[in-house]
This record gives sequence, C-alpha cells and structure tokens, in this order.
Amino acid sequence: MVARRPLGYSAAHIALHWIIAALVIFQLVMGDLIKPAYRAFKRGAAPAEADLLSANIHVYVGVSILLLAIVRLILRFRNGVPAAPAGESAFQKWAASAAHFLLYVVIFAMPISGMVAWFGGIGGAGDVHELAKPVIIIVVVLHAAGALWQHFIAKTDVFRRMVKPVS
Ligand code: HEM
Ligand code: HEM
Repeated sequence: MVARRPLGYSAAHIALHWIIAALVIFQLVMGDLIKPAYRAFKRGAAPAEADLLSANIHVYVGVSILLLAIVRLILRFRNGVPAAPAGESAFQKWAASAAHFLLYVVIFAMPISGMVAWFGGIGGAGDVHELAKPVIIIVVVLHAAGALWQHFIAKTDVFRRMVKPVS
C-alpha cells in the first residue's frame, strides 16, 4: 500500500487496531440487536421503543467503526506499516496481505452497506450486509490464527509489534 517501512506500529495505530477489533466482534456477536426494528420499518410499522434503542446501539457502534477506520487508514498512509518477518515465504506474505486488505474492506463496507440499508431503506444492501457475516468470521478467525501462529510457533515479533508501539 505504501513504500515506507517503519520498524513497528505507533501507539495510536495499535489502539485503533484493538478498539476496532473489539467493536467488530461486538457487532458480529450482537448483530441481531437491529433486526426487530429493521423488520418493523420494512413492514411500514413503528418499532417498539426497546427495539429502537437496541437498533441504535448497532447503528452507533457501526458508524463509530467507520470513523475510526478512516483515521486508521490515514495513519497507515502517513506512517506505513512494518515489513513482513524475514524468511517468510511468498505465500505467507500474500496470505497476510490479502487478509489485511479484506479486513479493511470489512471495516469500510459493513458500515456503509448497513447505513444504505438503514437510512436509505434499500433491502439489497441489508442482504449483502447479512451475507457478509460468515465471510467476515472466517477472515477474522484466519487472521487471528495467523497472528497466534506467528507468536507461538514461528516465534516472530509480529504479535508483539501489534502490542508494543515503536518509540
Ligand atoms: C476482528 C477484527 C480485526 C480486524 C478488522 C483486524 C485488522 C487488521 C489489519 C487491517 C491489520 C494490518 C495492519 C494495519 O493496517 O492495521 C492487522 C494486523 C494485525 N492484527 Fe488484526 N484485526 C482484527 C483482529 C485481530 C485479532 C483477534 C488478533 C489476534 C489474535 C489480531 C492480531 C493482529 C496482529 C498481530 C497484526 C500485526 C500483523 C503484522 O504486523 O504483520 N487482529 N489487523
Ligand atoms: C463493521 C460494522 C458492522 C458490522 C460488523 C455489522 C454486522 C451485522 C450483523 C452480524 C448483522 C446480523 C446479520 C445476521 O444475523 O444475519 C447485522 C445486521 C444489520 N446491520 Fe449491521 N454491522 C455493522 C454496521 C452497521 C451500520 C453502521 C448499520 C446502519 C447504520 C448497520 C445496519 C444493519 C441492518 C439494517 C441490519 C439488518 C439487516 C437485515 O436484517 O436485512 N450495520 N449487522
């Protein structure tokens, strides 16, 4: 994405990674929060107050992910990201980059498709949003497994650098 190669991630980038990861996992686990109110709107009915409150949690958390993702992408362009560990195969490098690319797609495309469905009332966007759920779970699980494999099996500094900022 960028040519610059810093030695690690900044504290801001690391904080954004873990905050966004926690919020994405919350959205995946609690995705049902928005459904009763969304169904009511689709039927042309007014949702119950409690359902609207639950839906708002999904909306606000999702929009927050989008705003944080914009800041994170700007930081990534400005500062660059560290190089892959030495000795990694071309396939491993490709797999890590592909997962990172897809994760960026997720943190932008999910809030945007959700907003189009919720504010624009476009059902097709809601279908895409729903269909993406299992795909995202697979990418996140593979990404997390890759990170843990790097730490415990390959014993590289890849996990540590997403915890400890460069000074
Ligand atoms: C659930 C949502 C998650 C998203 C959207 C996400 C996204 C990303 C992205 C895009 C990168 C590339 C660097 C960047 O530009 O920030 C990255 C790096 C990283 N992630 Fe995640 N991640 C998630 C969850 C996790 C989890 C659960 C773990 C650990 C178990 C993890 C561990 C790491 C590590 C160690 C790196 C550094 C990789 C490197 O420097 O090559 N991530 N993550
Ligand atoms: C990264 C951010 C987001 C994630 C990971 C996410 C995830 C999810 C999940 C897992 C579901 C339930 C899917 C199912 O059970 O089949 C869902 C439903 C939904 N989400 Fe999100 N969401 C995000 C952001 C948003 C935003 C910002 C909005 C609106 C402003 C939104 C609107 C909706 C709507 C309308 C539904 C119901 C779709 C339907 O039933 O057809 N989402 N979301």
